[in-house]
Amino acid sequence: MLQIPDKLRFKPASHAIPSYLRATYEWAYLNPRNVRWLDNETIVGVILFGNHVRLRNAALAEIRTGQNVLQVAHVYGTLIPEIARRVGPTGSLEAIDVAPLQAALCRRKLWGMRHTDVRISDASDPGDGGYDVVNCYFLLHEVPDDMKRAIVTALLQRVAPGGRAVFVDYHRPARLHPLRGLYRKLFERLEPFALSMWDHEVRDLGADAAAFEWTKEIFFGGVFQKTVAHRRGSI
Ligand SMILES: C[S@@+](CC[C@H](N)C(=O)[O-])C[C@H]1O[C@@H](n2cnc3c(N)ncnc32)[C@H](O)[C@@H]1O
Repeated sequence: MLQIPDKLRFKPASHAIPSYLRATYEWAYLNPRNVRWLDNETIVGVILFGNHVRLRNAALAEIRTGQNVLQVAHVYGTLIPEIARRVGPTGSLEAIDVAPLQAALCRRKLWGMRHTDVRISDASDPGDGGYDVVNCYFLLHEVPDDMKRAIVTALLQRVAPGGRAVFVDYHRPARLHPLRGLYRKLFERLEPFALSMWDHEVRDLGADAAAFEWTKEIFFGGVFQKTVAHRRGSI
């Protein structure tokens, strides 16, 4: 009998575009005309106030040649092909995104790299694989709080013994940070789920946090964080 690989099966509930994405980020991720100019290193640099290279390098520093990596959601710019080059053909990169248009952009960037694969999948239901590194780059601040918890819990489950989950995202700025007020206003107007990143540690969002050792590094006066969850055990 013909066996259909799991990744080709139609899973309507978990693969439907979430309502928060349509309601808040349609212009940024679902509108084909806009994504054409947004998917660009310069734009990403502006959005992250010039911190993109530093943050991207911080994420890349967690990844080594030969590792199996799950990239959770497409990221504008060059981060994803850089991860593919970093793991190299002795490793693998699997990228997921819930939006078909974003998955297609990601696929195009990875064209010809046979150690990569792109699937349409929700981050809260990323499949059954186990990975050395699960990389979640600026996704959490764009999803509602219950989704943040579902995503962190699901991603931690996908980390192999000795592996790690890497979360690069917004964080609470220092009290006297000159841009703190501006960020608050921007979030209130444009990114309604981002402000809660100021009040929650990523480690408190995952159900099985105790199985991991957690480290956190902050950047740009606390505006950004890299939080890494290392699963105990060896690869
Ligand atoms: C990684 S986030 C933000 C990245 C950052 N703003 C950038 O530079 O691109 C954006 C992506 O997350 C995807 N996304 C949103 N919710 C998702 C979910 N629940 N599961 C998988 N992908 C999701 C969107 O379709 C979009 O492609």
